[in-house]
Order: sequence, then structure tokens, then C-alpha cells
Amino acid sequence: MFERMLVGKIENRITVGLISLVLIMVFLGWAAINEGGRMQAFQTMEEARAIEQGAVLFAANCTTCHGLDGRGLAGKAPGLNNPMLFGHDFFPDVTKQISNLTGEKKTLNDEKNAPGTTDARKTEIDARIAEIDKTIADLDAKRTADVKAAADKGYNPTGVSYSRLLELGWAGTLDSFILTTLIHGRPVSSNYWPQPMPAWSQTAGGPLRTDELENIVAYIKNWDKGEGWTLDDLYAVNQFPILPKDPAPYIQQIQLLQQSGGVLPKPVGTDVKAIAADVAKLTGDPARGEELYHGKLPATLTNTALPCTGCHQQAANAVGPMTNGTYTRVVNERLKEPQFAGWTPEEYLIDSIVNPSDYIVPGFQDLMVKNLGTEVLNAQDLADILAYIKTMNQ
Ligand code: HEC
Ligand code: HEC
Repeated sequence: MFERMLVGKIENRITVGLISLVLIMVFLGWAAINEGGRMQAFQTMEEARAIEQGAVLFAANCTTCHGLDGRGLAGKAPGLNNPMLFGHDFFPDVTKQISNLTGEKKTLNDEKNAPGTTDARKTEIDARIAEIDKTIADLDAKRTADVKAAADKGYNPTGVSYSRLLELGWAGTLDSFILTTLIHGRPVSSNYWPQPMPAWSQTAGGPLRTDELENIVAYIKNWDKGEGWTLDDLYAVNQFPILPKDPAPYIQQIQLLQQSGGVLPKPVGTDVKAIAADVAKLTGDPARGEELYHGKLPATLTNTALPCTGCHQQAANAVGPMTNGTYTRVVNERLKEPQFAGWTPEEYLIDSIVNPSDYIVPGFQDLMVKNLGTEVLNAQDLADILAYIKTMNQ
């Protein structure tokens, strides 16, 4: 009896061993013919190498501000090894509940504003809406209290703020968000951090190649735990990102940076000589200048149409001097004025655009907009407009 069991066990072991051997052989054979599988294994290896190199670069360049473990340093730079960067919601049920309540509130408001709703019903609706608002406020207060240790370090679990990308309104992918930040840095962040995030790409004057930046992105993304993030991970973050008071211009600046190859576009200012020198380095495009002047193309910095033709028209009798012949008048009349002795036509035009009150064209009033130099025009836009005005030489 005993013996038979023992023999049985040994036989079992042999069987198991044989089956394993067969399985291994089948697997090897399958692996040999399964190119896709091998490709995948190869890609995984490549990925592992990218992450490894990214880790080395991160240790050498980033830890002084973002911490050894990427969890940020208080008062210095935000955590990247951080559920918030990856958009993890610790309270999906509350988020859903609030989204339902917000939907109900909208339906109620529509009903309230529809014709024929009785006053009695309106009162009922108002009472329910007040109830909803209170419930939402309570839910938000509760989830904030539930993660107090993180909230104290700047984490906000309410609304869409649990996700950095949603909070900022970033329309692209996480990869593009990280890579763009790495390439150009965030010069704007000097407003709310002691040192801004520097630009790292060689294309933006930094020390790293694009493939190196991509490896760093791979390293940062390898921190993502997907559904596996825990509250302990959240509490381990030393510093959460700061949301600029109005994120829209901030996002716009990041996007402008992305387009402009890393040079933060800035308004030209009001120093005529300095502006003339900046503009001289650029090539003005009269066709683009015409579109800008006529409001058909938005100004780069503000992304809105310029107001020039609201006051300047091709013919006379407008609020401002007529556009036709502007350049001729500058050369033949304005520069003859004693105060412009030694000025070039460009300098006069720049001055009338950025410091319009300096000199008032006879017969006109000091009505020209005053913020073109300080807020609206960057050097390229101005160069293009000047090139266009130079064609107004009839
Ligand atoms: C001098 C300090 C400093 C160094 C060095 C630095 N950073 Fe930053 N980094 C910052 C600051 C400050 C911010 C926050 C910027 C903001 O809020 O716009 C930031 C933001 C970021 C962000 C965006 C995070 C977010 O939530 O908006 C990423 C990604 C990032 N850094 C990656 C890196 C990497 C990778 C390196 C190394 C190659 C690095 N940083 C080196 C200071 C630094
Ligand atoms: C709100 C009305 C208004 C707007 C908008 C306006 N201007 Fe003017 N502009 C004037 C007036 C009025 C004058 C003449 C008074 C003066 O010299 O300031 C003038 C003068 C000028 C002159 C000097 C012309 C000359 O004959 O010496 C230039 C150049 C000029 N504007 C360009 C522009 C450009 C470019 C824009 C758009 C980016 C613009 N202006 C927008 C009202 C306006």
C-alpha cells in the first residue's frame, strides 16, 4: 500500500517532469516560429534599456530638484513619481456621484428656465439645487480630509485636479506633455518656483539629445502603477505641482514655446533702439504683415486679431491716418520734424506703434492703443507689419 503510493508519487514526478520538458520544447519551438513574440521580447528589452539609460540621466540631471526617487523636493520642484502626474483618481465613485449630481443640476436648471415652469415648481427646483450643492461641497470636503497628509502638500482630490493633465487642460498625451516640458523647460515657472524648470534639449540650448530625452520620458513613465497606485504612494510624494492661478495663458505659453523652438516669445517692449536692433535680425514678411494688420491672422502672443483697421483704413476720414501712403508720409513729412532728426523710417514707425503718445500726427488725437509694445506684438509680428507698411509707399 505504502510502496504503491511511493511508486505512484515517483511516477507522478516523472510524469510532471516529462510534461514540463514537453512544454518547454513546445514553448521553444513556438518561440522559434513566433516572430511576433520574439519581436515583443526584443521590444521589451529595448524598452528596458531605454528606461535604464533614462534612470542614469535622471540621476545625473534631475534629482537635485525632483529628488532621488522622483517624488519631488518640498519648495523646490514637484514630484513626478506621483499618481497625480499619471491622472490616478483615488475616489472614482465620488467623482461619478458628483458628475451625476452635476448632470441632475443642469437638467433642473434647464427645466427652471423653460417657459411655462410654475413658480411653485421653480421653488422646488431651487431647493433641490441647494441640496445638490451642499452634497457636492460635503463630498469634496470629505475626500480632501481623507487625504489630508497629501492635501497639506498641495494635492487637491476634487474636480479634475487629481489629474495634472486634466487640471491644466492639456489636450495632448502624457508623453508629449513630459517631452515638451523637457525640451523647452518652463521659463514661466520662475513666477512660482525658486528656480524654473530648465530647458534640456540641445535644440533649445540645453545639454541633452532628443533620444536621451526620450529615454528619460520612458524612465518617468515606468513609475506609472496604473490601477495599482496606493494612498501610501500618494503620501510619499514630497511636493505636488502648483496650479498657476489662471492656467489658460500658462498652457498657451507652453504651446507657444513648443512652436517657437524654445525661445519664450515676449512682447517687444518700448525701447525704440533696442526694438530696431531686434527687428533688424529678422526678415519681415510683408504678406504676413498685411494679414496681421487686417486682422486676418491672429497676433502670436495674444492669439487675437489686431485692431489696426478699426482706426486705419486705406482711404482718409478714419480715426487714424490712412494706411495708403503711410511710408511716403513718414519719409517726406514726419522725419522732417526737428524731433526726428537722425531717425530712420523704421525707428519712427516703431515709435509710433509702441509709444503712440510720443508724437501725435497733426490733425489727429492721441487715440492709438497703448499696449502694442508691452503686451501684444513680438519681434516677428512687428517685423512683418513694418515690412507691410513699407509697401504703403504710393
Ligand atoms: C533647477 C531645478 C530643476 C531641475 C534641475 C529639473 N527640474 Fe523639472 N521642474 C522644475 C520645476 C520648478 C518644475 C515645475 C514647473 C511648473 O510648475 O511649471 C518642474 C517640472 C517638471 C516636469 C513637469 C511636471 C508637471 O507636473 O508639470 C517634468 C516632467 C520635469 N520637471 C522633469 C524634469 C527632468 C526629467 C529633469 C532632468 C532632466 C528636470 N525636470 C530637472 C525644476 C527642475
Ligand atoms: C483706436 C484707434 C487706433 C488703433 C486700433 C490703431 N491705431 Fe495707429 N494711430 C491711431 C491714431 C489716432 C494715430 C495718429 C495719432 C498718433 O500719432 O498717435 C495713429 C498713428 C499710427 C501711426 C503713425 C502714422 C503716421 O502717419 O505717422 C502708425 C504707423 C500706426 N498708427 C500703426 C498702427 C498699427 C500697426 C496698429 C495695429 C497694430 C494701429 N496703429 C492701431 C489710432 C489707432
